[in-house]
Amino acid sequence: MENPVIIALDFENGKKAKKFLSAFEGHAPYVKVGMELFYAEGAPFIYWLKERNFQVFLDLKLHDIPTTVNKAMKVLGSLSIDMVNVHAAGGTSMMKAAKEGLISSGSSHTKLIAVTQLTSTNERMLYDELLIQHTTVKECATHYAMLAKNCGLDGVVCSAQETKGIKEACGSSFLSITPGIRPSGSDIHDQARTATPKAAAEAGVDYMVIGRSITKSEQPVDMYETIVKEWRDAYAYNNRQTFA
Ligand code: C5P
Repeated sequence: MENPVIIALDFENGKKAKKFLSAFEGHAPYVKVGMELFYAEGAPFIYWLKERNFQVFLDLKLHDIPTTVNKAMKVLGSLSIDMVNVHAAGGTSMMKAAKEGLISSGSSHTKLIAVTQLTSTNERMLYDELLIQHTTVKECATHYAMLAKNCGLDGVVCSAQETKGIKEACGSSFLSITPGIRPSGSDIHDQARTATPKAAAEAGVDYMVIGRSITKSEQPVDMYETIVKEWRDAYAYNNRQTFA
């Protein structure tokens, strides 16, 4: 894995996001654009990023009837983004429709991934609010990952603690994209279940989505490089390979 970090551009507008990215001159890291920034700026901001060679994960977490998701994916695929997602809770018909929509857009390189259980969902919510019983969040995430795999999706968003079980169930090439990553000793903010870059690499995580640890850092580029190095050292140690 050449670039394991996806920086979450959790900014309220494009001006602030561009100011932050100006520090990364010459790096063009993989970035995540979520609902706040996309709803504020729309497709022109995605074009701006792609013209500057950023890889883009468009994190809109689609969840609607299959036809609507199919048509939305056709539009999103035309933006030439590198990754996009849906909620696995939308079901297998919806996930298959999303995949078909993406294919029909002609964007063959765009990875389609599924959100399993949000890291903000705990077992009380699962049982008492959603009435999903006789399971745990972890089991449910693995089950959703298997459904996503069977629908032809490329991977899932999950917590680093769930990666191992999901890789065992779905195969090592099925992507694990994990938020909640914090360098050792740093502020965990509102994330309940965190992992260090080293632990993420050891668990087999493919991409770490990291926001505030980088975006709120005084030295964001240095922090980005420190995180990449910690991950690469652990990954190389586990896989006995070196990076050029
Ligand atoms: O600042 P922080 O590193 O916590 O940002 C994590 C990013 O990952 C945010 O953009 C957040 O919306 C996203 N995310 C998450 N947990 C999920 C899914 C997405 O934190 N389960």
